[in-house]
Amino acid sequence: MKAQGFALMEGADAAALEAIVGKRNVIFHDEERLEPFSHDETAERSYASMPEAVVRPASTAEVSKVMAYASSRRIPVTPRGAGSGLSGGCVPAMGGIVLSLDRMNAILDIDLENLMVVAQPGVVTNSINEALKKHGLWFAGYPMSLETCFLGGNVAENAGGGKAVKYGVTSRYVTGLEVVLASGEVLRLGGKLRKDVTGYDLVHLLVGSEGTLAVITEITLSLMPVPRRKAVLLASFAGAAEAIGAVPRIIREARIVPTSVEYMDRASILASCGYLNESIPYGEAGAMLLLEVEGEGNDEVFANYSAIGGVCEAAGAQSVYVADNRTTMERIWNVRRNIAEALKVRSPRQSLEDVVVPTAAIPAFMEGLLSLAAEEGVQIPCYGHAGDGNLHATVIKPGQWSEEEWARRLHHILERLYRLSNSLGGRISGEHGIGNKRRDFIGINLDPATIALMKGIKAVFDPQAILNPGKIFPE
Ligand code: LAC
Ligand code: ZN
Repeated sequence: MKAQGFALMEGADAAALEAIVGKRNVIFHDEERLEPFSHDETAERSYASMPEAVVRPASTAEVSKVMAYASSRRIPVTPRGAGSGLSGGCVPAMGGIVLSLDRMNAILDIDLENLMVVAQPGVVTNSINEALKKHGLWFAGYPMSLETCFLGGNVAENAGGGKAVKYGVTSRYVTGLEVVLASGEVLRLGGKLRKDVTGYDLVHLLVGSEGTLAVITEITLSLMPVPRRKAVLLASFAGAAEAIGAVPRIIREARIVPTSVEYMDRASILASCGYLNESIPYGEAGAMLLLEVEGEGNDEVFANYSAIGGVCEAAGAQSVYVADNRTTMERIWNVRRNIAEALKVRSPRQSLEDVVVPTAAIPAFMEGLLSLAAEEGVQIPCYGHAGDGNLHATVIKPGQWSEEEWARRLHHILERLYRLSNSLGGRISGEHGIGNKRRDFIGINLDPATIALMKGIKAVFDPQAILNPGKIFPE
């Protein structure tokens, strides 16, 4: 027996799992092949934890049998998509089985009558849009990792992304789920429905539940028409405060809903351009906003970007560049999408954060962040989804700090950062989730009664607590 009464896996367990999914789809007692499943994209390896086995089911029936077996033996099970998460969500914090959904990667149904798509969790998010392109449709979730992440992970984490200002986050598009409970029981919830108030909304309780309530085996998504025309604006500003100061004004004054209002500070732009060997207009600016607008035709797009560009200029932009051809727009977005990776390559010892505040509070947040960095003597480059109030402050380990000093001071810096966001009405995570990375801090946002209610829900779904233990809630 190990932590919390979980069973330690034995050869007989591996054999039983092999009988369900096939010998080649179980990894057991093989450190080298298990290691990649011990972490996600979180930079610090202190959150990593080795699984005892990796199991790769091919169907809902196999997932169900694996769960029933794990329940009978009380073995922890941690579902895993592409492993591109940033809060340790798919890390097997208590060992046991990593349930990799990578083989369940089919798009099952493109329903042009209902404008819905049904897909398995292991499908790469962007490949859904590739398949929909010829129909003029798309799934409007737009996580920055869309070329690698899996839909199942997006749903489990309720991924946000770069177009949430207009399109919202993943949950808005999930209308149905098939899930497997810890016991092995299969539930079908919701459907191809644009309205559904039949009982509690379990679909949206499961979206964002970080693999702690059930294993997602099938997802129904509602689709949107691809916008006919769009344009990307790059507005350059003297510095961080000026660029962020413009954000609430854009939201308030332009009187149109932009698709995106993304913020990039100078360090982030230089890192990503350097990493990609790419250049963008005003790449040397103090800070920048990337804004996207859409429209039915050229006139509407022109009217929209003129309105937004005008507010940027009134708010102190030094210059505004407009890209309306596909190649340039994609080059600019590519620079934005690669900031996280570029900063990680440049500074592998770091903590990538995703606090969120009400949009009107974003200038106050930035002011607090700049003082925090100065007071703590650390670099905290920052970029992100400013139009959602969701910023990726990235705390970089100073070279001269020892390991012990970094661990201690990072904890203190994160606590200050989270309290700053909380004091402005914000939350410690807007899109990456709590996982095991932030679980000790959730009490900053949630009172004990709320946490107790959430734990009660968890206990109803998973009475033996075998699904993704060690996440969301402090011990
Ligand atoms: C991004 C990821 C880190 O916005 O959420 O780039
Ligand atoms: Zn993000």
